[in-house]
Order: sequence, then structure tokens, then C-alpha cells
Amino acid sequence: MHNTRKITADLIWIGANDRRLALFENIYPIPQGISYNSYLLLDNKTVLFDTVDSAVRHQFFANLQYALGSRALDYIVVHHMEPDHCAELASLLQIHPETTIVCNLQTQKMIEQFFALNLPQQKYMLIKEGDSLNTGNHILRFIAAPMVHWPEVMMTYDETAKILFSADAFGTFGAINGNIFADEVDFCSEYLSEARRYYSNIVGKYGPQVQNVLKKAATLDIRMICPLHGFIWRQNLEYIITKYAKWAAYEPEEQSVVIAYGSIYGNTANAAEILASRLAEKGVKNIKLYDVSVTHHSYIISEAFRASALVLAAPTYNGDIFINMDNLLRDLTAHNLQNRTVAIIDNGTWAPLAGKQMAEVISKWKNCMILEPKISVKSALKAEQLTALDTLATSLKEILS
Ligand code: FEO
Repeated sequence: MHNTRKITADLIWIGANDRRLALFENIYPIPQGISYNSYLLLDNKTVLFDTVDSAVRHQFFANLQYALGSRALDYIVVHHMEPDHCAELASLLQIHPETTIVCNLQTQKMIEQFFALNLPQQKYMLIKEGDSLNTGNHILRFIAAPMVHWPEVMMTYDETAKILFSADAFGTFGAINGNIFADEVDFCSEYLSEARRYYSNIVGKYGPQVQNVLKKAATLDIRMICPLHGFIWRQNLEYIITKYAKWAAYEPEEQSVVIAYGSIYGNTANAAEILASRLAEKGVKNIKLYDVSVTHHSYIISEAFRASALVLAAPTYNGDIFINMDNLLRDLTAHNLQNRTVAIIDNGTWAPLAGKQMAEVISKWKNCMILEPKISVKSALKAEQLTALDTLATSLKEILS
């Protein structure tokens, strides 16, 4: 049975939720599921904005059939050729052979790569930045958004309704629970962290490209944002746009500390826990402490985008960095984390080398300062090292102030 929501008088959400998928992109845990948003505009011409992931195809086609009724589907606009949004394109074209695909040249190439449809050129309406499509009452203008999240990505600005169809941008992890508008939920307390985890992990690497799109968006009168995942924004758009501006500039949201540690027998964890207590005693708020072997790296990446300081603590393992910390460091490097203060604690029973190796990795991060001196634990923390931890907490607190 169909499950749709009316967005405006002539725009309908026809997406679907997946609460069974464990790992989005086979990487990111999504304990609260994921939504795949698709929108249908019923103007003089009918326009579908993107399809969905194959996992929810039955719901999507039921929604489309209901929302479209007996009308033909004139256009499908393909904003992004990643299969979580385009997987049903070939099936759609079988059901609606009358449909013209609206996309850019790079998207067309990807369509043929994924589906090998060998479609005649007249099936495509190739568009580029600034081009528009008049559907009767609406004028749809296309905006290039390369690398937000793939190179072919584009957005559509409906000049009539003043709606931005933003592709992956402004999305969030988490299924939609009936409440499709961000103003229908307590977004800040319940969903901001998942929006940040989605942003930082999916497009965090491409801050300059996101900034470029934000600059273009700033020239538009946007009343509503319709992303491909998560909530539609129709109120307080400035809130989420400001968050995006911060994340894209790699500016911390908060003066706070995230401590990520690897620990084999609990001794490095002990140092991390004591440091967290000293920080709290000195007035640092919203400290987060993570065991890198327990918490998925995507959550720690997200927290690193939130806080201004990072403490990384790990033992030496096989003469190298403890592997789960090494993986986190690689991921932080891949996501271009910048503008942070970083402190290092290492541990080793006969040759503590991890601290030096972690510093080598972090020294390549743009505008990140490594606090000296590093703390090196020999097997287990000693009473005389409590002063060093207290001094580190003081240094961190002073930098946050
Ligand atoms: Fe939601 Fe980049 O796909």
C-alpha cells in the first residue's frame, strides 16, 4: 500500500524507509535506519526527482503509482547516480518508457556504466549549470554541486516554489517516523548528531566543494530544502545552513574535548578516563570518551568535527600504532580534519613507539597543533604521571578558553 506525504499543493514525497539495513554503504551503522527520499512534482508536466535504493523498491513503486495516478511521467531528474538513489532507474524506465531523463553529461555516462541501457540520445535531456526546465507553473533551474558527494551531483532550484532539491546535502542518517519536516521533531537534541555523522563521514572530505555550493545557495531565495535523506526543512533553514557552513569550513561547533583511546588491558583507558575527570574538574563540558575498539569510527569522526580538541591515546602494537587507532587516524586524515588541537598519549611495555608515529600522521593535518609534551605510559600509569595528566588538562582548558 502506498505511503506518501504531501509537501506542497503539487509536490509529494514518495520515498521510503529502510530499518533493516545494518550498514549504510556497507560501512556506517544506522541503528535508526535510513530514509531514501524521492519527490514527485505534479505540474502541467510531471517530474520525478530521483528514485530510491532497491531495498525499498516495492514501497517506492506503490507510492509512485498512487501519486501519479493515470498521468504519464514526463521527466525523471537524476541528481545523483549513487545507487541509493538511482538503483530503480532502469525499472522505472521499463514501467514508464515515456519518461525523459534530465541529467548532465557525466550522469549520462554513469547511467550507461551502471545499467548498459544503450538508450537513444533523445531519451536524455542533457542539462548543465544554470539551465532550466519549464514544467508549466514551475521553472526548475539546475545547479552543479560536484563532489557533494560524487562528481556528477547537481541540485535543482524550483524558482516558483523556492524549493531547493539538495541531493545528499542536508541529509541525515535515520529513518523518517512519519514526521518528515525537521520542525515536526526535536531536531537539535535527537537528530543533529546523526546529521553531523552523516555529513562528516559522507561529504566531510569535500569541505571546499560544499562551501562552493553554499555560496551559490546564498544567492537564492530558498524557502524549503528537500534532501535525499532525512528531513525536509521549511522553517529555520538558517540553523542547518549555519551548521553546514561550520562543518564545511572545518570549524568546531564547540570548545570541547573528544578523547579516543585504544587499550588492550585497560591501562591506556585508565589514563584517558583520569584525563577526562581532570578536564571536567577544570570546567570543560560535553567531553566525550570513546574506546576505538568499541565505537564505530564514524561516530568518532563526527565528534571530531564537533569539538575543538582531540586527545588520542593508544598503545604500541607490532611496533606500530594499535590497529584500531591506526584505522581511525587514517579515516580522520581521509576526511581532511583541520583546525584542531591534538594531544597524544601512548603506551608500551618495552618500546612505546605509537606516540611518535601518531604525531607523524597528525603533523600532516592542516592547521592542527600537537600539544607538547606527549604523555608516554610504560605499561601502567604511575602516581608521578598524574601531574602530567593534570598539566595536560590545564593546557587543554587554557586553549579552549
Ligand atoms: Fe545518498 Fe551519495 O548517496
